[in-house]
Amino acid sequence: MQVQIVEHPLAAARLTTLRDKTTGNAGFRAALSSLTQMLVYEALSSAKSAVVEIETPLQPYTGSRLECAPLLVPVLRAGVGMVDQALAMVPEAHVGFVGIARDEETAQPVPYLESLPDDLSGFPVFVLDPMLATGGSMLHTIELLVARNATDITAVCVVAAPEGVAALADSGHPVRLVVASVDDGLNEAAYIVPGLGDAGDRQFGPR
Ligand code: URA
Repeated sequence: MQVQIVEHPLAAARLTTLRDKTTGNAGFRAALSSLTQMLVYEALSSAKSAVVEIETPLQPYTGSRLECAPLLVPVLRAGVGMVDQALAMVPEAHVGFVGIARDEETAQPVPYLESLPDDLSGFPVFVLDPMLATGGSMLHTIELLVARNATDITAVCVVAAPEGVAALADSGHPVRLVVASVDDGLNEAAYIVPGLGDAGDRQFGPR
């Protein structure tokens, strides 16, 4: 599986803001949005372009545009804070939704919403979820996408645990990962360490 770690001084600065426990909800949302811009920019670096013939004010010109905008799939709740910025970068993108809660006792994913197009053949899909911890939620989402014939899936995450990266790689599904950091691992409660805490609570307050 291809893992693309976005290493840039600006990405590192935003990630530090996200990790800092003194950053409040508004500051967290702003830093997440800004970092999403960098992650999506990187994720699109290998996107296919289509040739378009246009005219500048001076002469004809052979330009390019994205051949196919990705379907954006934020995983609720934490992925909500990534979708506006991703859409700002690719305004023509469509958006699907998957809702997955986490059982705090077992750390298992509890799906509660799925709103996706029926057929994703030929569509690149970007799954937006800041945290790739055990990989359970991401794998559930990827399975929903593969069942709809998706063959080109990118997980766009802020922080990943090695356990989650391994789970994606072992799944054999057609997925690559674009991420700002692969952290040390998971603690006994399946939180990523050093991590940034609960990405949903940090954006929106506790449930
Ligand atoms: N989900 C989060 O929001 N944070 C973690 O550290 C792990 C899963």
